[in-house]
Amino acid sequence: MEISGKVALVTGASSGIGRATAVALAAEGATVAVADIDRAGGEETVRAIAGADGRASFFEADVATPAGIAALFASVEAAFGGIDIVHNNAGIMTGDAPGWPDAGIEKIHLVVGVNVAGVMMGTRAAVHALRKRGGGAVVNTASVAAFGPMPFDPIYAATKAAVLSFTQSCAMLAETENVRVNAVLPGIVDTPIIAKTGDGVTPAAWLRPALEVAVMLRPEDIAESVLDFVRDDSRAGQAELVASDGVAEGLPEGVTLRALA
Ligand SMILES: NC(=O)c1ccc[n+]([C@@H]2O[C@H](COP(=O)([O-])OP(=O)(O)OC[C@H]3O[C@@H](n4cnc5c(N)ncnc54)[C@H](O)[C@@H]3O)[C@@H](O)[C@H]2O)c1
Repeated sequence: MEISGKVALVTGASSGIGRATAVALAAEGATVAVADIDRAGGEETVRAIAGADGRASFFEADVATPAGIAALFASVEAAFGGIDIVHNNAGIMTGDAPGWPDAGIEKIHLVVGVNVAGVMMGTRAAVHALRKRGGGAVVNTASVAAFGPMPFDPIYAATKAAVLSFTQSCAMLAETENVRVNAVLPGIVDTPIIAKTGDGVTPAAWLRPALEVAVMLRPEDIAESVLDFVRDDSRAGQAELVASDGVAEGLPEGVTLRALA
């Protein structure tokens, strides 16, 4: 799919990976709906896009609720006349001391709500919007955590495994709806989510050893993978791990590696 001239909706676009994808899509000539619960961050993303002569607007939305998803898609369609590309990217880790298994029980509902229900409802709404345009592309953000085990945040790992499974099961939408649904699986990326595992400034103690040896990716590395999924009309139900060469061993069936040095 040619990106120029299309309308793209990116969730979690006030920060990190979502912001990088929004900026990259706008740089390719898409009009971008920047969706997030964080208004200040979203407006910063819109300013960055406008500053590079791109087109974008902010839409305040909670992707974890049916009403939030419905209002978001309706508002974007009303503002831009339709939607062609959706990046269901908003996600959270369980975070906060004391972490698993003592984090508040409501955290389970919250993380599953954003990471799993948000992606499922976002994909459903995307199909309904994209079919009006004759089809389009959806990219869901999973994670290397989908391969688990992740003993210190099993809730997060399970949600990302669910996103991978869900996306692979949506492959047939390419045939029935001309909507291609794919997943990007980032390795460890330098974004604010890392510090949110701890107190928002310093990462959780359990994550620090991994950070010391990790090859830290840039949000822009993930955006490149997302844009390639959008461009390539032959890809549906696929999953791409974006990581360093070192993790190529033993990838599950159906997952390819985009290796970065
Ligand atoms: N950074 C990494 O190392 C990494 C690795 C693998 C996967 N991921 C995934 O990438 C995605 C983006 O994460 P990031 O690293 O850019 O983190 P981030 O914290 O920088 O960005 C996440 C964004 O999602 C938004 N958000 C949270 N809950 C929301 C809700 N209910 N509705 C709408 N927006 C909401 C936040 O406000 C924030 O702007 C997430 O799905 C995350 O799980 C990140």
